[in-house]
Amino acid sequence: MTTPNFDFTGKNVMVFGGTSGINLGIAKGFAAAGARLGVASRSQDKVDAAVAALGNDAGPALGFSLDVRDAQAVVDAVASFASERGTIDVLVSGAAGNFPAAAAALSPNGFKAVVDIDLMGTFHVMRAAYGALTKPGASIINLSAPQAWIAMPMQMHVCAAKAGVDMVTRTLALEWGREGVRVNSVSPGPIEGTEGMERLAPTPEAKERSAKAVPLGRMGTVEDIADVCLFLASDAARYVNGAVIPVDGGWSAGGMLSTAMGG
Ligand code: COA
Ligand code: NAP
Repeated sequence: MTTPNFDFTGKNVMVFGGTSGINLGIAKGFAAAGARLGVASRSQDKVDAAVAALGNDAGPALGFSLDVRDAQAVVDAVASFASERGTIDVLVSGAAGNFPAAAAALSPNGFKAVVDIDLMGTFHVMRAAYGALTKPGASIINLSAPQAWIAMPMQMHVCAAKAGVDMVTRTLALEWGREGVRVNSVSPGPIEGTEGMERLAPTPEAKERSAKAVPLGRMGTVEDIADVCLFLASDAARYVNGAVIPVDGGWSAGGMLSTAMGG
């Protein structure tokens, strides 16, 4: 038996959507574990702030201002990162958009915006990074959500997009697993202090209801998600491929029943 090793010194990690919230937390987790980071998102200010926060003894982080809906921009960012750093050992795809909207009132462009960012964006990231992945050995982590398999009112667009992300994960696990690339998703529950929760539970009362709905009795933290990503990217998860791992304190075990039991 060997003790699991979560040291990523010298490993190259690229996080799409890695400039705020959960994804920035994931990037920070890898930076603290010694990895060399690259992050990408739309806002140049957020990219600059993330780059400033993610440098470590292994070197400065690299930042890219782009929209994951722009396939060529994603290709260019991956090429730039790979030419500076070498192959990508860990790839995280987490850019996403969410807003609550009743299906009957959702415009085609509203549905499309979320599907384009979450699902097409994940495809663009996977497609662009494929040639630059460390083979064998790379680990890919996509950000899913319970909406991928638990239907939720006001979230049809997100349910559709994240269900697609899960099937991208599982399909690539079949195809790229053959080349020694593992592809998995994490599915966070309600994570405190994030944009996603701010949009879905904007009031203190709604936040309290969300926390009570979780069997473990609290919202998650970005560190709860980052730690599972470190595990997934490590050799301790060497036989984990094609998994969608809920990191939600048990909420999705019951879904809306968990919410009902929370009172
Ligand atoms: N309810 C209904 N429709 C909405 C909406 C809302 N709250 N917010 C946006 N839309 C619609 C817009 O009306 C537009 O459709 P239209 O052209 O028919 O009017 C469409 O969505 C696109 O909106 P736009 O603001 O042009 O999109 P964008 O590309 O600038 O931004 C979003 C994308 C809408 C997803 C935006 O919320 C975003 O950038 N989110 C990223 C951050 C985030 O969501 N974090 C949480 C992750 S879980
Ligand atoms: P967040 O802070 O808004 O993070 C989204 C990130 O993606 C930001 O860095 C944002 O930066 C970037 N982004 C958004 N649209 C983009 C685009 N079109 N192109 C490139 N980058 C884009 O949200 P979060 O709540 O932490 O969510 C992070 C991930 O976790 C998402 O995949 C979400 O679906 C998932 N998740 C969250 C929760 C939760 O409780 N928060 C629960 C389940 C799943 P820019 O604005 O600079 O582009």
